[in-house]
Amino acid sequence: MKFEKLKNTAEKEIKLVEDLNGLQDFSKKYLGKQGELTQILRSLKDLPKRERIMVGKDANELKNFLVSIYEEKEAQLKEKGIKAAQEKEWIDVTAPGEKIAIGTLHPLTLARRKVEEIFKSMGFEVVEGPDIETEWYNFDALNIPKDHPARDAWDTFYLKNGFLLRTHTSPVQVRYMEKNKPPFRIIVPGNVYRHEATDPSHEFQLQQVEGLMVGEDISAASLKAVVGEFFVRFFDKNVEFRFRPDFFPFTEPSFDISITCLVCGGKGCSVCKESGWLEVAGAGMVHQNVFKSAGLIRKDGKKWQGWAFGFGLERLVMLKHKINDIRMFRSGDIRFLKQF
Ligand code: PHE
Repeated sequence: MKFEKLKNTAEKEIKLVEDLNGLQDFSKKYLGKQGELTQILRSLKDLPKRERIMVGKDANELKNFLVSIYEEKEAQLKEKGIKAAQEKEWIDVTAPGEKIAIGTLHPLTLARRKVEEIFKSMGFEVVEGPDIETEWYNFDALNIPKDHPARDAWDTFYLKNGFLLRTHTSPVQVRYMEKNKPPFRIIVPGNVYRHEATDPSHEFQLQQVEGLMVGEDISAASLKAVVGEFFVRFFDKNVEFRFRPDFFPFTEPSFDISITCLVCGGKGCSVCKESGWLEVAGAGMVHQNVFKSAGLIRKDGKKWQGWAFGFGLERLVMLKHKINDIRMFRSGDIRFLKQF
């Protein structure tokens, strides 16, 4: 009777076992050293011989039964474990691979390439000069002598031994004219540096595109034509622009070239400081002192004539893409850069 009951409860219990831990508990309870079966077997020695034989036989049967349900359960659980692991580690070899993000060119690089392409198609040569300059090329040769108040217009990063970070691309005018005789037309793209506080329209590192066209009778009329053509091609539409009198020591007369603020459409916003216009370039007729600095003096007594301009590349890109903070360009913000 005792065996029947034990058999039944064991059978019920093993059905409830869900994992190998549970199975271990089961085996301990019935088959372990202190287990129910072991205790029965231990008590056998106290029984009279005949009874011992009968009970022993039943006990043996029970033991076989318990071992068999244990082994069956163990096999089931192991099978289940393998299946779960297989499911977890299953790889779909036909699934498409993960896309690797590919970078894009920086908006300023794209703009610079476009500017170069436009001017090349108008017969301009692309020339470069050093970022580290001397005071001579950055200032003196451009008709800005030492102690001249105009130097204050460019907040300068001075380096050791009289060197500085160029504050504009204009020094390349002189470098080029020292080595080349007119007529010529060049553009000079490159970095310039200003020691000033940043805000939505100011950065301490910028890109400029200098333009220089020199010949016998180059006038401001061709400056206006070239600049106008450049705007149409760069912005892919007719943009309004204006020349106003300005002052630069290396040009006479000098102009500031502004276009309608394309961010606000001329209504006034933080980018154009509520004026509706944005200055995108300084320009003017090359000052004779600059020709002199470069050694471009004609023997026939006539004078070379030419014009120069200096565009801020960031401004152009800001207007084209309606970007309202110049600091975005060097922020390294992927969300910004991904859009170009
Ligand atoms: N170099 C001037 C600047 O950085 C711009 C300029 C270039 C003006 C050429 C006139 C002629 O402000």
